[in-house]
Amino acid sequence: MARLLVTGGAGFLGVNFVRHVLASTDHRIAVLDKLTYAGNRASLEGLPESRVTFVEGDIADALLVDALVGDADAVVHFAAETHNDHALAEPAPFVRTNLVGTFTLLEAVRAHGVRFHQVSTDEVYGDLALESSDRFHEGDAFSPSSPYSATKAGADLLVHAWVRSYGVHATVSHCSNSYGPYQHVEKFIPRQITQVLRGDRPRLYGSGEQVRDWIHAEDHSSAVLAILERGTPGETYLIGADGERSNLEVVRLILELMGQPQDAFDRVADRPGHDARYAIDSTKLRAELGWEPVHRDFEAGLAATIAWYRENEDWWAPAKNATEAFYAARGQ
Ligand code: NAD
Ligand code: TYD
Repeated sequence: MARLLVTGGAGFLGVNFVRHVLASTDHRIAVLDKLTYAGNRASLEGLPESRVTFVEGDIADALLVDALVGDADAVVHFAAETHNDHALAEPAPFVRTNLVGTFTLLEAVRAHGVRFHQVSTDEVYGDLALESSDRFHEGDAFSPSSPYSATKAGADLLVHAWVRSYGVHATVSHCSNSYGPYQHVEKFIPRQITQVLRGDRPRLYGSGEQVRDWIHAEDHSSAVLAILERGTPGETYLIGADGERSNLEVVRLILELMGQPQDAFDRVADRPGHDARYAIDSTKLRAELGWEPVHRDFEAGLAATIAWYRENEDWWAPAKNATEAFYAARGQ
């Protein structure tokens, strides 16, 4: 039995990881989350108090972080500002949380000799050409295009430097786009599902030909746990489930699964600097750690996700109006 400190555990991937760990291990978990607009305390409701404690606080608060890390066997670091459209509008919180926050955690794990896992994104590698069949690999150079991905890349570089310079026992994972329950309605898939549930139309940026490599949140959780348990400190692992789809394909599939005509969506202003394509080669994770995704059928995973949003309107409705007001002001 281990004590895990999970930062950002009230966010989408964090809460999915907490639930996965509770179901598949006997670890105890302390969640540290600032409850920004993206965090939702309700996502953790009903979890056993004997195994999960919740601390509302900032990963950039050095005193708080030092105390919590001192009580943990390992830190799994999900907390971040994560939305590209917000980063374009207001990058300052991304620099503070993603860079200063990660630095603060690294100093605490260095002081206490605690194992650390950095949850990162494939977006640090930049983007791939639409017409190519290239995929991202662990050794690729960082080449972030956006304020969000640049702050994630900076944080990852701090981790690598703390491994080499101070011997911190840290691993890093880079994942492609995830989907599943508890994802904020600002993100692509839940936005479109909740548009249709509200009787509104999905909104596609620009041409919609951009490609994302979709993976279910539960598969992301099992991969992070495998890396935490069996990964080699100092190593990087790419997490992906061979789920490449264009945005247009995804919108059409959502419409089909929700019984709407294929053309019942609106094209809106494109995202400045919009990355064309992401694709992951996860051979290393599969070969070295024996990890495999369970959710291989994207259509089935999407249908289950639609059902979750249909059944959990109380969870997402409070955030929907503010989210759409943000997009409306940007012409999106
Ligand atoms: P999210 O936006 O849903 O959740 C982020 C959580 O972090 C929220 O609960 C928020 O309250 C918390 N948080 C933000 N700033 C904080 C601070 N200063 N101190 C403490 N808590 C703070 O994000 P997500 O989609 O769950 O992403 C989690 C991690 O996974 C991020 O590091 C992200 O870069 C990475 N990632 C996400 C995806 C994806 O598709 N969602 C893909 C690859 C990597
Ligand atoms: P998003 O969920 O913001 O993730 P990321 O920027 O990390 O890839 O967006 C996924 C893709 O969907 C991206 O190409 C932008 C596009 N998109 C839309 O077409 N419409 C939308 O309403 C949103 C939010 C995103």
